[in-house]
Amino acid sequence: MHLTSSEELALTGEHGYAMQKAMEILAALGDIYDADQLIPIRSTQIAGVSYKNIGDPGLEWISDLNGTVRVQSILNPAGMDRVRWRELGISEEFAAKQEAVIRAYEKLGISTWCTCTPYDITSDLASSGDHLAWSESSAVAYANSVIGARTNREGGPSALAAAIVGKTPNYGYHLDENRIPTIAIRVEGSLSGSDYGALGYIAGAIAKSGIPIFSLESTPSNDERKALGAAMAASGAVALHYVKGMPPAPPVLRASSAPLTSQPDASNISENITIEHREIEEVYLENQCEPDLITIGCPHCSPRELAKLRDLLTDKTVTTEMWVFTSGAIRDRHPDLVLGIESSGAKVVCDTCMVVTPVCERYGCMMVSSGKALAYVPQMCGADAVLGSLEDCVNAAVGS
Ligand code: F3S
Repeated sequence: MHLTSSEELALTGEHGYAMQKAMEILAALGDIYDADQLIPIRSTQIAGVSYKNIGDPGLEWISDLNGTVRVQSILNPAGMDRVRWRELGISEEFAAKQEAVIRAYEKLGISTWCTCTPYDITSDLASSGDHLAWSESSAVAYANSVIGARTNREGGPSALAAAIVGKTPNYGYHLDENRIPTIAIRVEGSLSGSDYGALGYIAGAIAKSGIPIFSLESTPSNDERKALGAAMAASGAVALHYVKGMPPAPPVLRASSAPLTSQPDASNISENITIEHREIEEVYLENQCEPDLITIGCPHCSPRELAKLRDLLTDKTVTTEMWVFTSGAIRDRHPDLVLGIESSGAKVVCDTCMVVTPVCERYGCMMVSSGKALAYVPQMCGADAVLGSLEDCVNAAVGS
């Protein structure tokens, strides 16, 4: 990968230790993936925050870095709610380590809102056409597929390195030729809410690391596309999808040097499949178990999703534990929604999620409204997981 003279100097340590380490990571990545150059980015979203996942080696590595990030940067969910961790049964020792991790990131100038839906906090992080270095797989899918920005699925260290340098190697989803649909998926029947998570759970396993383009009978909201992309990134490794008739449209590569246009193109499609509505219904019937915990908010709930849940819980009392995950920023901006949900006995939990908190290991069967959580909870928490619609989850929580 070509480096400018200033980037070469950074690599030799001329601009300090943190910049040198960051440049080493980016240069190595660029060489591995045959990038031609480093390109400027607008923002980063950095994974590797939960102490459950990174442990002491990760904490030490981040703490050793001195410097300041050059672009807006935000953290992925941590291992606990930073305010209510005692209520969730987090140990003092874990909480101290987790806070140390977050403070080490903060020292570098990174925003400490810990969330996988940073686009719900601010529109300043990404717009259509922006290059980004985001880590969390559902956030990457949303940035590429809904916002129309461009990001690879970064590891925590490479996103942090990109934040410090303000650039990322130009390869993968940054390039038009890697953003062409490879599999066409026609879906029969109308879908809503968690059906999109169920669809993503099926489609991700089929598409693997391909780029699906969907023909749908219903028009998904952005929250529903968030659920679809999150599930495909978990059951497969899908980082970009398209929905016919909705922006962004895929680029079209021309054989000549003529400029790229932006019209749907089926020329790279290697597979055409149909998913029947019956298959989506069957996802709800997998792993039937009696839930001892109901969780909502994977990815973190938007204000619209919180409002829907608040309406469903009005005048009801939760008898099985129910946790609702969102970012601390959304909690602070919508105290009425939080109060409405918590009046039922459900808990609104921030900064973390059912997968990255160590507390999830206490439960035997989790009901989730998310295709991503359905895929990850058994692996990451050792619990069974059963999918329910938002209404199913509320009914299970209130015992009706
Ligand atoms: Fe977000 Fe955790 Fe799900 S990071 S996408 S809520 S697994």
